[in-house]
Amino acid sequence: MTLAAIIGGSGLTNLKDFEVTHREVKRSPYGEPSSPLVFGRLGGQEVVFLARHGQGHTIPPHEVNYRANIWAIKETGATRVIAVNAVGGIAASLKPGQLVFPDQIIDYTYSRNHTFFGNGQKPVTHIDFTYPYCEELRRVFIQAARAAGIEAAEHATYAATQGPRFESIAEIKRLERDGADIVGMTGMPETGLARELGLCYASIAVIANPAAGKAAGVISLKEIERTLESGMQTVRSLLERTIPLLLTV
Ligand code: HPA
Repeated sequence: MTLAAIIGGSGLTNLKDFEVTHREVKRSPYGEPSSPLVFGRLGGQEVVFLARHGQGHTIPPHEVNYRANIWAIKETGATRVIAVNAVGGIAASLKPGQLVFPDQIIDYTYSRNHTFFGNGQKPVTHIDFTYPYCEELRRVFIQAARAAGIEAAEHATYAATQGPRFESIAEIKRLERDGADIVGMTGMPETGLARELGLCYASIAVIANPAAGKAAGVISLKEIERTLESGMQTVRSLLERTIPLLLTV
């Protein structure tokens, strides 16, 4: 049984210590997922991995086929989805390289295929999104991080922006006024689509940079790459501790 799916974001196109058993190229009614599904064992358990931006990191956030990805994951029979997201830090307490487990999200994206429920489908369907992330899975992240001595923010509001450009200072100020702590380009519609298909979905966000205006100067891609390299090492060790804990919940 596949215990969980992991959606890797920027900086995490593969997993170390992941014993790959097989790959599957999936199709969905919505087109092709970003990458083949890679099945294997991590932390002694069977998991499936999908690279959100493609295996060679070629798909920008606004062009990811989120519906195909979530559909393909649902088809594997996995019920839990661990999403890894690189984000900018808005709250002053959040430092580059740090992990964050968001518990709320605001959607500022547009022109993305954001639902499975449309096109005249009957009956009209609305889903509850009061608590957008799966609390059970979030608690496992928190437990695993505490046990490993990994510093992580246990509550945060994620602002999902359209990208692919970063934000202006005024835009970040607005997100801050709205109550956002972190900003990223991939949180939506992925989180909503997972809920539509009844998946238990939660995010491990990695602070890649201070958001626009939160540090001197402009946002440097080189620096983001460097930060993500070490941040994703922390994610990998957290994942290895998280997976075995999933058996207990
Ligand atoms: N803004 C939006 N998305 C991001 C950022 C950012 O500053 N950093 C990493 N992803």
